[in-house]
Amino acid sequence: MSNTAPKLLVMGNWKMNPPTIGSAKELMLDIRKGIGRHKSEVEVVVAPPTVYLPEMERITPSQRILLGAQDVHSEKSGPHTGEVSLSMLESVGVSHIIIGHSERRAAGETDLEIYKNVQTVLKGKAVAVVCVGETHRDAHGNYFGVVEAQLRAALRDVKPMWLKYLTIAYEPVWAIGTGETATPEDAHEMRLFIQKILMDRFGRSALKKVRILYGGSVKPQNAEALLQEGEVDGFLIGGASLKAKDFTEIVKIGERYVKNNPS
Ligand code: 13P
Repeated sequence: MSNTAPKLLVMGNWKMNPPTIGSAKELMLDIRKGIGRHKSEVEVVVAPPTVYLPEMERITPSQRILLGAQDVHSEKSGPHTGEVSLSMLESVGVSHIIIGHSERRAAGETDLEIYKNVQTVLKGKAVAVVCVGETHRDAHGNYFGVVEAQLRAALRDVKPMWLKYLTIAYEPVWAIGTGETATPEDAHEMRLFIQKILMDRFGRSALKKVRILYGGSVKPQNAEALLQEGEVDGFLIGGASLKAKDFTEIVKIGERYVKNNPS
């Protein structure tokens, strides 16, 4: 991450929730109240369903909560029924785009589509939050190969000058929505592995620019250990981002962590 960027990123992925615009507004207003307006070393991003974005932009005017999207189409416009482009998302206030979430990969999204989306978002100078993660773990460590292949495919042709817009989210699929979390040691080991790939590909300076998040059953109860021992740069949060209290508590845990660990 660049030197001026906040130290941590906490991003909520609401997925296909909550069920109505009314309940989405209520959730966002509760999060807004919980987060407050003070300057912070924790960047907060919420990615609601696309259809709620204009209203979410209207009720989060302060820039304290930034808006994310859960997906994007790589083309600028054209015959792509049901899709949205980067410029459409940006026009309703979106700055961060989740790319290659495992739920989309499971629904058929390919490495090629993910590659194209990464290109579109980074060229457009929006933040690409690229998700990688294995479906299961085996005794032979093959999951490292899975993550490496996903990363290399997504980052092909990425230029070093774009790295400040790149964030990687390590989300082991077996930990998503299951209540089972990677241990802080697992998260740390994968962070080092991802850093090694970034270093091979872009050189050592990449490590300062690219954030590595963890996602998969993050909760107020495990967030501190994942920061402290996992040394991750923040979180991508599903279930707990739908509970304003839990989500804001995780942001506060991040703020305390930064305060107690000045670099
Ligand atoms: P959970 O936090 O519900 O496990 O979801 C993680 C996730 O998929 C965020 O993108």
